[in-house]
Amino acid sequence: MRIAVGADHAGFAMKQALADHLRGRGLEVIDCGARSIEPVDYPDFGAAVGRAVAAGHADLGLCVCGTGIGIAMAANKIAGVRAAVAHDATSARLARRHNDANVLCLGERLVGSEVAREALDAWLDAAFEAGRHTARVAKIDALAASDPVTGRPSDQTSEP
Ligand code: RB5
Repeated sequence: MRIAVGADHAGFAMKQALADHLRGRGLEVIDCGARSIEPVDYPDFGAAVGRAVAAGHADLGLCVCGTGIGIAMAANKIAGVRAAVAHDATSARLARRHNDANVLCLGERLVGSEVAREALDAWLDAAFEAGRHTARVAKIDALAASDPVTGRPSDQTSEP
C-alpha cells in the first residue's frame, strides 16, 4: 500500500515521525513535502496529497499541519478526497468506518506524538463498514460534482 504524506512547517516533525512509522509497517511512503520547518503554506501540501490520492498514485493520504484543519480544508477541495481531521484513535477509526476517509489529517500542535501514532494505526487498521454508510458517502462525493449554488450536477446547466 502506498501512502502520500504531506505537511507544512508546523506539521513537519510529526510528518517525518509518522512517515518513519509507516515505513516500519512495511508501507510505501510518497513524501509530498514540506522538507523542513521553513515556513510554507499548508494548502500547497494538502492539495499535493489530495492529488496523489485522487490520481491513484497513492492509496491513502496523511496530512499534518498545526491543527490539521487548514490542510484538511485544502485536501477536501480535490474531487474524490474525503479528508478527516482526527484527534485520537476513536475519531480516526470512525472516519474510516463511517466516512471512508481516504486522507487523515492531524494537528502537531494539538495532538501528542503517541496519540497521533495510535490514531494513524487505528485509521489504517479500520475498514469502511459500507452498508448504510455507502449512500451517504456517495452524497459527499456528489457534492464535488455539483453546482455550488443550485446543487444540480455541474454538467446539468438548465432546469430539467
Ligand atoms: C501555521 O502557523 C498554521 O496556521 C497551520 O499549520 C495550520 O494550523 C492551519 O490550519
